[in-house]
Amino acid sequence: MSSEAETGTIPKERYLSPAVAAAERERLWPRVWLHAAALDLVREPGTFVTVRLGGVADVLVIRGGDGELRAFHNVCQHRGRQLVEAPRGRLQQLRCPLHHWQWTLEGDLAHVPERDAFGALAEGPIRLPELRCATWAGHVFVHLGEPAESLAEWLAPLTDALGPYGLEDYALVDQKTFELPCNWKTVADLFNEAYHVAAVHPYLLGMVDPSSLAAVTHGPHCEHTFTIGRPSAQADPVEVTEALEGLLRDNGADPAGLDGDARRAPEVLRAALRAQGIERLSDDELTMGRSWMLFPSQTLNVYPTNAMLHRHRPHPTDPERTSFDQLTFRRVAPGDERPIPKVSRYAVDEIEGSGKVTEDDLAQVLAVQRGMHSPGFEHLRLGRFEVAILHMHATVQRYLEP
Ligand code: FES
Ligand SMILES: [Fe+2]
Repeated sequence: MSSEAETGTIPKERYLSPAVAAAERERLWPRVWLHAAALDLVREPGTFVTVRLGGVADVLVIRGGDGELRAFHNVCQHRGRQLVEAPRGRLQQLRCPLHHWQWTLEGDLAHVPERDAFGALAEGPIRLPELRCATWAGHVFVHLGEPAESLAEWLAPLTDALGPYGLEDYALVDQKTFELPCNWKTVADLFNEAYHVAAVHPYLLGMVDPSSLAAVTHGPHCEHTFTIGRPSAQADPVEVTEALEGLLRDNGADPAGLDGDARRAPEVLRAALRAQGIERLSDDELTMGRSWMLFPSQTLNVYPTNAMLHRHRPHPTDPERTSFDQLTFRRVAPGDERPIPKVSRYAVDEIEGSGKVTEDDLAQVLAVQRGMHSPGFEHLRLGRFEVAILHMHATVQRYLEP
């Protein structure tokens, strides 16, 4: 179990205060590895992703003509114009639109119109400022400062637990970005507990059992495991719900195999997954979900044939704004073609389009943020089903200490 206390309070200022957000910008974000992109978006030379991380850093992740993946501050070194505006794409050359200074895909200054006019200022090797960038299992991470640990060390517990899933074979199918009027921790907290499932997602109780949930902390991170394909104690043990049928179909199993009895689901699910050549997972793992809180601001949910990543990215100045990304991955059998991912960005405050479960989550998140403003509320009261939230906040506090 958790090394942290099992219950505790959290003052609401952490979700509202500009001073707390400023302290996080200074002391938290530059000291952690942050998820920057799915590797599927940057596999070919010239492909790139832009993403704002840690509030202030506008980051360009780009694969060079030499095949190397790099991360740069996305800013022209002439007058400071943002270099690339598109969220993703493919470039032949990196040319600043304002005066056409040109950079190689590897970050070197290649051409300056009227170079003589700059004297020594445009001479010598000039490069875009580079950031540490590393990959793990189909994901690109960036560090905004000087990493105390390599990405492999930072993610070691995760790498060990998720190795048998072969996440490299999970292809990005969909990426959605929402701009939410809430603090990044308000939304992160919701994805760090399943206590709300019975109240907010009762339609899931026929296929997932929140009482099976076990939380274990691993350094700064925390893992939840829970059974899937088995109704919770609050649900009818026999009834085949729409959600259970959906779960089976999503995993390549035919719900007809249940013969109208939900109790057969684990067996039907396992047979279908084994038939797809999934051999490295144990029988238990085939009917298990794993949800990793990747400290501080990412949640990765992994199942035998699919995965979902949620990222919570703070706004540069407003503690009550967050860019929220939902990335959906699907396992592709080795040798099969990977799908072309769909990438979309939604307007500020728009939450429809994230799918029923996430929409229901986000509606709650925004109502929590509104409630925090009430003079009638001082602090959160967290119980033992919310240990991952306590662990995340306690770890953030350790980073913020001078
Ligand atoms: S600001 Fe980029 S070329 Fe002038
Ligand atoms: Fe939820």
